[in-house]
Amino acid sequence: MPSPSPGSGASSPLRDARRSRFTYRQLAQLATYSTATPLRVVAHIDLDAFYAQCEMIRLGVPEDKPLAVQQWQGLIAVNYPARKWEIGRHCNITEAKKLCPELIAQHVATWREGDDKWAYRDDAAANIATDKVSLDPYRLQSRKILALVKDSLPKDLQKVEKASIDEVFLDLSAQVHSELLRRFPELSSPPPSGDVAESLPFPSAAALDWRNDNLVVLDEDQETLDPDWDDVVILLGSEIVRGVRAEIREKLGYTCSAGIANNKLVSKLGSAFKKPNAQTVVRSRAVLPFLTGIKVTKMRNLGGKLGDQVVSTFGTESVKELRDIPLDQIKAKLGDETAVWLYNTIRGIDLSEVNSRTQIKSMLSAKSFRPSIKTPEQGIKWLRIFAGDIYSRLVEEGILEHKRWPRTINLHHRHAGQTRSKSSSIPSGKPLDEQALFALAKELFYQIIAEGDVWPCANLSLSVSGFEEGVKGNMGIGAFFKKREETPPRRSIDTVPNESSIMEQQSKKPRVDKSSIQQFFHKRPAGDQGPLQVKEHLDANQPQPDDAKFSWLDQEGNDADKSSHGVIGLEDSAHLASLSCPRCKARFGDEISLQSHQDWHFAKDIQDSERVKPTFADQPATSRGHPPKGSGQASKRGRGGSKLEQGQSKLTFG
Ligand code: CTP
Ligand code: CA
Ligand code: CA
Repeated sequence: MPSPSPGSGASSPLRDARRSRFTYRQLAQLATYSTATPLRVVAHIDLDAFYAQCEMIRLGVPEDKPLAVQQWQGLIAVNYPARKWEIGRHCNITEAKKLCPELIAQHVATWREGDDKWAYRDDAAANIATDKVSLDPYRLQSRKILALVKDSLPKDLQKVEKASIDEVFLDLSAQVHSELLRRFPELSSPPPSGDVAESLPFPSAAALDWRNDNLVVLDEDQETLDPDWDDVVILLGSEIVRGVRAEIREKLGYTCSAGIANNKLVSKLGSAFKKPNAQTVVRSRAVLPFLTGIKVTKMRNLGGKLGDQVVSTFGTESVKELRDIPLDQIKAKLGDETAVWLYNTIRGIDLSEVNSRTQIKSMLSAKSFRPSIKTPEQGIKWLRIFAGDIYSRLVEEGILEHKRWPRTINLHHRHAGQTRSKSSSIPSGKPLDEQALFALAKELFYQIIAEGDVWPCANLSLSVSGFEEGVKGNMGIGAFFKKREETPPRRSIDTVPNESSIMEQQSKKPRVDKSSIQQFFHKRPAGDQGPLQVKEHLDANQPQPDDAKFSWLDQEGNDADKSSHGVIGLEDSAHLASLSCPRCKARFGDEISLQSHQDWHFAKDIQDSERVKPTFADQPATSRGHPPKGSGQASKRGRGGSKLEQGQSKLTFG
């Protein structure tokens, strides 16, 4: 970490007779990542135009050249030079080229029916029927970046949470604590009274050097307050983040933006505040003014239905105006839990932990067919691809080292608006490889076919779930298999996902206030029988600004539907009204695309509700809110990941 510049940085040990607002206890809590201390320091780092940067680096495109990443006729990432031409993810390729004829459009890599590996193909855009998007190249880069972030932080003082394919949260509290004691040795002495509730001495640094950080501008009276320890710690955090970003830039070539604050909620809003290649510091004194400028629907978990409900109930999307509404009044409208959660959120209060142990709960590989497929042979070809796709992600999850192991495999099949689903246990006792996955998938497929009335098929999705932890400590491989064999395998359970099975899944979770939460949960898109497992493989990310960006769900090769989210051209605009998503207003070229998109909202709702839950469990009863369900944010995902270091996945089919 760089040292502060002499005289102007966060150091200089002159004692001040004043006392800090913070106590010895709150300082000590920093070392243990306690969410209770107001001195905690959390950063959020988000890569700029991530897929676009991946392509620029891969292709050696100069930084000032406009480039977009294409998927079929749509764009899924647009670099900053191209954004100057007003090209965005809302454009299709024809529109974008019209705006900027120089635009470099690189199609994402695809798997092709019958082929055994993904590749960048010149003719991919024209082959939506036979190709399936592969995000493996981006997952590989994501992994490298994550590894570098971890390497650039002290081993024993880091807490890093991968939040999506292109973002991480860092809890910098412990590292900052250690750095603080190094720079301000007076803080190492115990409280003179022996009472940890005693106030700390006032920091001796009169002015802090924020370098080129983006500081949220405050009223003069707030700015004239001398810096207290909360300002000093966030400055130290900001220095660390600057160092991490420089490492990423130097070693891997990527630019990213960051937000530094005292919790995840505000740090994430901070990283989005100024892009690209910038970092924004939101000191605790700046939190309220900072949030005042942000619409409530841009806040975490408020991008979907709940946000809409808040706006329509209280007649405003201004965070400032919502803050004027007394808690009781919010409770009367939204129920206690949601009300408390909202009340805290619009004040920038978020006690959720940075969770370095967030793990994938399931993985899904799917394809929507346009035109629909009509024969078992066609289906089998896709099952091969799915098995290879999932297996490569299992390898990344450590299946070869027996770290984690899925227990259940599930196949969904859609025909005539109806989804059928079969699942079975994954047999224990022998290695799970792509052949085994493929064989299991075929078995389920034949069971579905045997029921008849299955053609044409509009969508197939294969998923694995029910992950178990594998070998720990010195347990040998034999012990691992023995342990697994003790669990009798479940075979071939029919599971037609429906409302009730979803609620069943939920009911295994800690109970939450039905009246307030489940109301966001019940409303599935009409006719949707979307796959259940989708919920869990989606990524750990609750971003705000993406609701209107629908292309996201095409991206992963994980989703309920990949291929049919064609971005529609201008000539299609007559159909727009009927083919736009009622939740996020995204437009679609056909009904299948829209349906699949709605499946995705549904899955994401479930995922969001699961994701945020631990957050609230951690909170003291008085401030415990609940995760609003069904907030429906089109968040970034990117779980699973690429496999071989060479960046190429290879499927060996039998
Ligand atoms: N992505 C997508 N569709 C979305 C949102 C995101 O395909 N609706 C992909 C993009 O390709 C992107 C990556 O996920 O590169 C990360 O998304 P995000 O951080 O929202 O956008 P960026 O493209 O990285 O741009 P920014 O600089 O605004 O972060
Ligand atoms: Ca990004
Ligand atoms: Ca992101």
